[in-house]
Amino acid sequence: MNKTILVTGGLGYIGSHTCVELLNNNYNVIVIDNLSNSKESVKDNIEAITGKKIIFYNVSVCDMEKIRDIFRKSKIDAVIHFAGYKAVGESVMKPLLYYQNNIDSTLVLCQVMNEFNCKKLIFSSSATVYGNNTNVPFREDYKVGGTTNPYGTSKLFIEHILNDLYISDNEWGITILRYFNPIGAHKSGLIGENPNGIPNNLMPYISKVAVGELKELSIFGNDYDTVDGTGVRDYIHVVDLANGHVKALSKLLDNKGVSIYNLGTGKGYSVLEIVNAFIKENKINIPYKIVSRRSGDVAVSYADSTKAKKELGWMPIYGIEDMVRDSYNFYRNNKND
Ligand code: UFG
Repeated sequence: MNKTILVTGGLGYIGSHTCVELLNNNYNVIVIDNLSNSKESVKDNIEAITGKKIIFYNVSVCDMEKIRDIFRKSKIDAVIHFAGYKAVGESVMKPLLYYQNNIDSTLVLCQVMNEFNCKKLIFSSSATVYGNNTNVPFREDYKVGGTTNPYGTSKLFIEHILNDLYISDNEWGITILRYFNPIGAHKSGLIGENPNGIPNNLMPYISKVAVGELKELSIFGNDYDTVDGTGVRDYIHVVDLANGHVKALSKLLDNKGVSIYNLGTGKGYSVLEIVNAFIKENKINIPYKIVSRRSGDVAVSYADSTKAKKELGWMPIYGIEDMVRDSYNFYRNNKND
């Protein structure tokens, strides 16, 4: 029998790519998404890419009764929990909203999972939990903390909550995945990252400049101690990231305990290197200007990803050219969408 996986936030950027890879690996997929930062058409696109159907509920993960109903209707083997607010700047302005939504949803989910004896959970965490640590590459056993915004702190708190949950009940299997910087899109151009409004993140911003929706990119600082003075990040193709979830799931289904993995390539690129790769690969100019540093940014962040490679047998296969090409391809297909 194929296993059934509940994916919260499954119509979002990382969630939708993970649904595709789950379906490609013969899992049944149930998605919960309240469409707060996604569109219902993503469901059709996931189905068009894979030729398979998913079950979709337009429900908030904070709605305990509705989550119970979903567990009553289907036998769920494991949950991948993507749903959550993720805009760093907004989280500074609306801390209560971020703490309430991100933490409440996780508490509701875990409580209902407990009631239905479904104790396998993969949680979307972030490299942001390493805070302002400068000792790169980041390893999973580094001390976490020192987060610089409520979004990051909500991820950190949830990691602590999940650890405590396991301590209270050793039947749980919990995998915490710390993402670095996902970019790129499915090669079909049907799903990708399409934030509402002006993007906060680098690749959506560059892509919107490329398709003429924004005038020029502002590069936040060129006086960091890096190869060219601009910030360095570990960019990872979202399809590689999605496949990391499939590998983590297959291990989790047979194991208990809390496991933490970085999902990054282990290689850092500067903002200027990304801009130049985008220009070269897509043969399109990206006008930019250098402005002052963005508050809360660290100079350099990249993963030590040997643990995921060794224990999950996971290996990112896409390079920077694939990432910038697939990002642009998605934006060209979804201009003004
Ligand atoms: N940048 C610019 N101009 C922009 C946007 C970004 O120069 O318009 C620079 C940033 O200063 C940084 C790099 O591009 O050096 C990457 O910035 P992003 O906003 O794309 O990504 P961050 O590394 O700041 O944040 C990402 C995720 C967060 C997560 C964090 C963890 O978006 O959710 O990684 O380190 F918390």
